[in-house]
Amino acid sequence: MMLRGQSALVTGAARGIGRAIAERYVREGARVMIGDLNAEAAAAAAQAIGEGARSLHLDVTRQDSIDAAIAGTVAAFGRLDILVNNAGIFDLAPIVEITRESYARVYAVNVEGLLFTLQAAAKQMIAQGNGGKIINFASQAGRRGEALVAVYCSSKAAVISLTQSAGLDLIRHGINVNAIAPGVVDNEHWEDVDRRFARYEGLPPGEKKRQVGAAVPIGRMARPEEIGGLAAFLASADADYIVAQTYNIDGGNWMS
Ligand SMILES: NC(=O)c1ccc[n+]([C@@H]2O[C@H](COP(=O)([O-])OP(=O)(O)OC[C@H]3O[C@@H](n4cnc5c(N)ncnc54)[C@H](O)[C@@H]3O)[C@@H](O)[C@H]2O)c1
Repeated sequence: MMLRGQSALVTGAARGIGRAIAERYVREGARVMIGDLNAEAAAAAAQAIGEGARSLHLDVTRQDSIDAAIAGTVAAFGRLDILVNNAGIFDLAPIVEITRESYARVYAVNVEGLLFTLQAAAKQMIAQGNGGKIINFASQAGRRGEALVAVYCSSKAAVISLTQSAGLDLIRHGINVNAIAPGVVDNEHWEDVDRRFARYEGLPPGEKKRQVGAAVPIGRMARPEEIGGLAAFLASADADYIVAQTYNIDGGNWMS
């Protein structure tokens, strides 16, 4: 029970990695608010996880929605100790086909949404006066650019940089800001990524995903639950001395 009595908000936790983190946090003794654009799926996830999990509608691209999610978490659990900034979206296109609409949509969630959710959580934690933990979701995509993935990769590089700046700024309030950079995680998100690559690379459905998984040094994609342990550790007192870092959890992909 690494997180006994802690109160957490996990964004984008209706499915995928966020949902696995919510499950793990509840098992570690935390109470978790699942915030997601898809309110119905968020409610179903909270119900499936059971006691300790609640849900609310959250659109991280809207300040009023972010403020309501922080207030809703505090109303439900009395305080906010942990924010997991997990909501993120993906797109891909060759440089010459990138549209302003796609750029604005990806940055609105992955960068602007993440920053202003972090800001709102930090204000709440500062007002409470007991510090807190903020965990941002970067990606191996933020470590290196990739053909076809300029917008997403650069948005995740921005997350690594924001984690450094926010980490250095907020630690004087006892708030640890760190990030997780997964490699490739097998979930619904990757089904969508596979379809998009197939369109540009002329691959049959499933082939890109197979190739990407086989190329990981450990020999396979990650399961969402495998990210939950690192997210629990970074939210725990064992991570009190860890500041402004981005941790790779990628089966060796970044080293390879
Ligand atoms: N799956 C991977 O291989 C992988 C690899 C590296 C990094 N990541 C990152 O990890 C995080 C989680 O990824 P995932 O694979 O679980 O994604 P996912 O697509 O399965 O889930 C993302 C969730 O975010 C929600 N969401 C989207 N826009 C939102 C908004 N404006 N406000 C609130 N919620 C919103 C969606 O409804 C969805 O439930 C993302 O930041 C992603 O970029 C994923």
